[in-house]
Amino acid sequence: MKRRTFIEKSTATTLGALIAPRFFNSKKISPLKGNIQPLVVCTWSFDKASAAALKALNDGKTSLEAAVEGVAIEENNPYNTTVGLGGAPDREGTVSLDACVMNHLGNCGAVLAVENIKNVAALAQAVMEKTPHVILTGNGAKNFALEQGFVAENLLTEESKLNWEKWLKTANYQPVINIENHDTIGMLCRDKDGNIEGACTTSGLAYKMKGRVGDSPIIGSGLFIDNQIGGAVATGMGEEVLKTVGSFLIVELMRQGKTPQEACEEAVARILEKNPGKPNFQVAYLAMNKQGTVGAYSIHSGFTYMHAQEENKIIKADAAF
Ligand code: GLY
Repeated sequence: MKRRTFIEKSTATTLGALIAPRFFNSKKISPLKGNIQPLVVCTWSFDKASAAALKALNDGKTSLEAAVEGVAIEENNPYNTTVGLGGAPDREGTVSLDACVMNHLGNCGAVLAVENIKNVAALAQAVMEKTPHVILTGNGAKNFALEQGFVAENLLTEESKLNWEKWLKTANYQPVINIENHDTIGMLCRDKDGNIEGACTTSGLAYKMKGRVGDSPIIGSGLFIDNQIGGAVATGMGEEVLKTVGSFLIVELMRQGKTPQEACEEAVARILEKNPGKPNFQVAYLAMNKQGTVGAYSIHSGFTYMHAQEENKIIKADAAF
């Protein structure tokens, strides 16, 4: 054997030895059979968002189109203070939004710290589909939005402005657990072909430092999908989700054979290990596997999620505390 051939062969063998056990340890995925019923899940009690997404799926739209349309209901809702229009501003009084999307091919797009554009999940989809990039931030994202025909508007509603002015009197920064029971909307949709795609959109923590970005637009943290396995979304204190790459962790745990419920519980346990005692923040996870089995778990009780299939149901998740 020539020396070059030998080197190539032995390198391939070594790499094979390193890589093979990981593949062989992965759970074997059997393809879905029979009629697949469209399914939508999303964080919190956003019933209009899940209903809109289910309708889109039943009308034959893709999972990504359905998710982007579904979450836009809350992005357009001026009374939701944690997403889109009417979102609570940063401590300087500016509303800045974060979002990401992921499709069944593993492609993704994200926008971070965007001002004046409310439909940031659709903008993240445009980043994915119309640019060679995955992430656009700040003014770059806003300028791209304007080029794409998105309309710039003031996102600070009178109510959000009054709340911020009230907050300024003490400027005490302590997010309230489950505040008004709504936060980031993370949505996973499975269409009639069994393809899972999703979106995650937020205004982030109320009165955050200018420029702060949480988990929601970060692929692997606020949202992750592997169409062979399933998907997961997160809500709550983004810093803790980022430190544990929560949604990616959940999908990998499902790959290793855990149910969506077990995987969400394990991801919460990872956060609790780092924060002994009863933490004064909330994190909640929601996951769906390829078969349409759903799991959810949070640190504190009070987390609800939507499950839309035959019915559009609000479900209360179990919690560690
Ligand atoms: N989960 C939303 C955020 O921390 O920004």
